[in-house]
Parts: sequence; structure tokens; C-alpha cells
Amino acid sequence: MCGIIGCRTTTAAPGYLITGLKLLEYRGYDSAGIAVSAADGSTALFRTTERVDALNGLVRAWDGPALGGIGIGHTRWATHGGVCVTNAHPHQDCDRRLSVVHNGILDNAGPLRAELEGAGHSFASEVDSEVICHLVEDRLKVTRDLLTAVSQSAEQLTGSWAVVVLDGLTGRMVAAAHRSPLLVARSAEGTFLASDISAISDWVEEYRILGDGDVVEVSEDLAWTRAGIPSLAPPPIMRPPRASFSLLDQDDHMNSEIDEQPEAAARVIEGIGRSVADGTLWTGLGLPPFQRLRVIGCGTSLNAGAIIGAGLSRLGGQAHSMVVASEAAGTVIEPGTLTLAISQSGETADVLRAIDEGPEDAPVLALVNNVHSTLARKVDAVLSCSAGPEIGVAATKTFVCQVLVGTGLVIASLVASGRITRHDARSLVDDLYGIPERFAAAALAAHRELPGLVEEVRHASGFLFLGRGAAVPYAAEGALKLKELTYRWAEAYPAGELKHGPLALVETGTPVVIVDDGDPRLAGNISEVRARGGLILSVGRPGSRIETPLSALAPCGPLEAVVPLQLLALRLAVDLGFDADKPRNLAKSVTVD
Ligand code: F6R
Repeated sequence: MCGIIGCRTTTAAPGYLITGLKLLEYRGYDSAGIAVSAADGSTALFRTTERVDALNGLVRAWDGPALGGIGIGHTRWATHGGVCVTNAHPHQDCDRRLSVVHNGILDNAGPLRAELEGAGHSFASEVDSEVICHLVEDRLKVTRDLLTAVSQSAEQLTGSWAVVVLDGLTGRMVAAAHRSPLLVARSAEGTFLASDISAISDWVEEYRILGDGDVVEVSEDLAWTRAGIPSLAPPPIMRPPRASFSLLDQDDHMNSEIDEQPEAAARVIEGIGRSVADGTLWTGLGLPPFQRLRVIGCGTSLNAGAIIGAGLSRLGGQAHSMVVASEAAGTVIEPGTLTLAISQSGETADVLRAIDEGPEDAPVLALVNNVHSTLARKVDAVLSCSAGPEIGVAATKTFVCQVLVGTGLVIASLVASGRITRHDARSLVDDLYGIPERFAAAALAAHRELPGLVEEVRHASGFLFLGRGAAVPYAAEGALKLKELTYRWAEAYPAGELKHGPLALVETGTPVVIVDDGDPRLAGNISEVRARGGLILSVGRPGSRIETPLSALAPCGPLEAVVPLQLLALRLAVDLGFDADKPRNLAKSVTVD
């Protein structure tokens, strides 16, 4: 989703800005832009609805005054207004003196815009962020100080923002944040800003995070203010090691990441196996014992959470509840509840909001792939799913690693609370050790069957995904991947629900994907579909269209089935000519609620 970078360097800014934006590409975006101070006090603006690389061409074609070392950049994921160059950031004020990049959503943009237009301001875009340019423009005329103008403007905003304002005339740059991540870092190379440390980690060793209400002058000295009052800068944080990734032998990251799953699973299980079996994965977190688990997340992370929560109930008889993060407000948290917040990015606004709005004394554990994320900083304890960098926008290996670490946590907590014996825990862990091999076998089976299967379903407008018991969240994940990548309707149901309505959708040739973990009741559901001409595509137990090896104890349910489901979505998307790494309308880091 939207990403921000800013720099104050001695050499030309575009190189830094475009390199940083490219490192934010994985989050998903639909347009990008940079604004750079020029030698004559003007600001050069370059924006595109193509990939970030297209900005290089625009900069090369620039024949205006020499470009300086101060600039800001942005990748946009549309929320207000369509995808077009005029809606891309940076936005500018009426005089084109101020340039602004903004992440977040302004709740009161409508009334502010009406007020500003009434006062004579002329808007160039449909985007809520543009009100910030005109607000600061007004305040700057009165205060003649950019830091004060931005502080006073921020007081008028409601909603969320990480914002950077560049004054091309003076070269001053001011950043402000409220409920949206933004960090600033200084090094011998210059001063940098970013919404995500990965954008600037090549040039800095440590960084500082803007807190809610902070407004900071981005100069050599970093003048820090909080709630309008000069304050000390927060302590620096060491940047995480730089991530590296390669495409293995594949054309796209998603394919490469699916292929990497056996290796990632082996690494994760090796890393946690012993501490699962003896319970120390749980006791090491230092959290109080809990009676029930409340799992919150969104999308794929929510599906992983459903598997983890169901594991706790199935293996140890302990209660769990599932909460869609965006619907968490008002849910009752009983005493003795542990909240498990799951998010690969750790930046998902819905999850952050759910945590902020929960009671302060209720413990929260985060399961994240980024231990330096905002979510990780907010909670009482953090577990890493240790998937490594995931570049494909659709989550694959992070899902698998979330399920493995979350299930490991569940087993460890059940050992620690005496609900299962160490011996039983050891057997469950031994079962997990077999997963990498079973993944590889599941991928082989899928590769054998998928070319023909894709041919059969390429014209289908919609799909049903069914499962029972532990297979239900996998059906949900299969449907989510298919719709994200192929833009076809895909609905997931517990198979028993079929006769309560969804069967109406089944007609001759309707593909119905069954995640078959061997539940005998599925046979009846398969007959119901066949009787109406539906096309059964079963994945799982022997005799299925795509057979995946079954695990004896299945602490995570039929995890192996997710590999063919991911590959089905990917292969069909590629066959239909879509870019699997950049599915439309999907963002890797969903920073608005
Ligand atoms: C699916 C996908 C999304 C995310 C969701 C939550 O492929 O990527 O559904 O799972 O936006 O993201 P995180 O896990 O970062 O909180």
C-alpha cells in the first residue's frame, strides 16, 4: 500500500528516492511520484501510473534547472479518487511551492476541502491528501515558519497521517505523523525519511520513529515537537539486517515463494521444534496463563489464525474465538483472555486499531513476519513467523510459516498448562517435521495435474471452495488466493452449508474445489454437486484429483493442501495473462482502515 520516502542529501535526490520507492514496490501500489527541489527554488514533479522505474525516464527527460538533493517520493494505492497521474502524490499547493506526500486517510477532508475551496484555493486532484497542501499554504502565509504551519495544520486534521511537506523555495522539509508509521534517520550520507525502514536501510544504521502527534523539522539537527511543544527526539533503534531475495528459477516472486515453502517450513520447524515440545516457546514469552484465546487478523492472516485457534480447541479442549480485526470494536474480552494478533506485515491498520481500542490490561501477543513493525512495538510479547522476505503481494510462505509457528505456540502452551503431556507434544512435533517433505510431494502432484485442470476451468466465472472441520480455513484461503489473483468469484463454505443456499450457484461445469482431509461426510456433498453437473476438483486424500500426502496427527489440519490451492490460483492467473506479483487492488501492507 502507500509508501513514503524523503531525503536531504548532498548528491541529487532522484537516485535515492527512486531506489527507495523500488524497495517499497512489494507493498502494492498503482501510481508513484517524486518531487525534487531545483536550483532556482522551484520544485520538479515527476509522477506516473506505470511502475516506479518509469520515473527514471521522466527524470532523464528533465530539461529544467539542476535538481538538488532534497526531495520526497510516494507510491500510492488509491483510496480517494481513481488511478491517474493527477491523483498520484506528491500533491502541491496553489503556488506549487509546497509539495506533500501523505499515507493514511483524512476523515474530515470533505469539509476542509469545501472550506478551502470557498476561500479561493484551487484543487488539482480528487485526493483527500491535497487538503494538507492548501492548509499548510494558508498557515505558512501567516506564520512564515514551516514547522509551525505544519503543526497548526495537523491540529485541524482528523483521521490518520504520515505526511512530509517540502518547501521548494527554502528547501525546508517537515514531517508529521498520527496513527500511521513514519521514521526519520540520519547518517553520513544524509537525512532520510520513510514509512518503512526497508526503503532506506542501505544508507542508515539507526532510525527514530515519529509518535502520534509528532511534528519534526527534517534538517541536520531534527527539531522534534510533540503536541506543538519542543521535545526530545525518541531513542534511536538499530535498523534490522538488510533483506535479500532472489527469484530462484521462477518468473515471478509468488512462484518462487511457493517453491521455497518446504525449505521455509523446515527452517521454522527446526528453529522451534525443541521449544514447542518442552513448552518453552510459550513460557519464554513471559505472558500470564490464559483460559481462552482471541485471535484477530485480516485476510490470509485471519485464515492462519482460524487454523491456529482451531488447533488449540481440538488438541487441548481450550476455547478460542475469531475476530475480524476491522470488526473488533465492541467485542467483549472476558477475563483470562489472551489476544493473538496475526499480521505478516505488522502494519495492517485494522489490526493496529483493534489493539489500540482494546482494554489496556488485556495481554496481547503478536505473530508477525516483521519484528520491527508497528504491531510488534505495541504488544506485550512478539513471536516471529520467520518466513523471510515475501515480495509477491499475495501471501503464501508467510501463511505457511504463521500456521507452523502459531500451531507450535498452541502446542507449547498446552504442554505448559498441563493440558497435554510432553510425550504427546513430542509426537505432534515429530509430525510437523514431516511437513517439508509432504509439501514437496503436494507440489509435484499439483504440477502434474494443473495444466489440464486450468484448461478445464479457464472460462469459469466463479468457483466454490468447500471443506469440513480443520479443512474449512484452507478452503477459505484457497478461495481468497483464487479471487486475488484471477479476479474470478470464489466463495468458501463449510461443506455442510452447501445445501443451505450456495448449491443454487452450482450448474453444469461450475468448479467446486473440495479440500478433502478424509472427512466421510464430504462424500454426500460431492454427490450433491455432481447431481447438478458441477465439476469436482478435490485436493487431499488418496483418490482426489490432486492427491496430497496426509499427516498422521495433522496438528495444523490439512496444511499440505494449501500448496495445490496456491498453485491453482497462480497457474490460472498466469494463463489468463495477469501479473501474479502485482494483483490488482491488493496491497502487501494495508495501512488504511
Ligand atoms: C492475501 C493477503 C491479504 C493479507 C491481509 C492482511 O494474500 O495478502 O489478505 O493477508 O491484508 O495482511 P497482514 O498479514 O500484513 O496483516
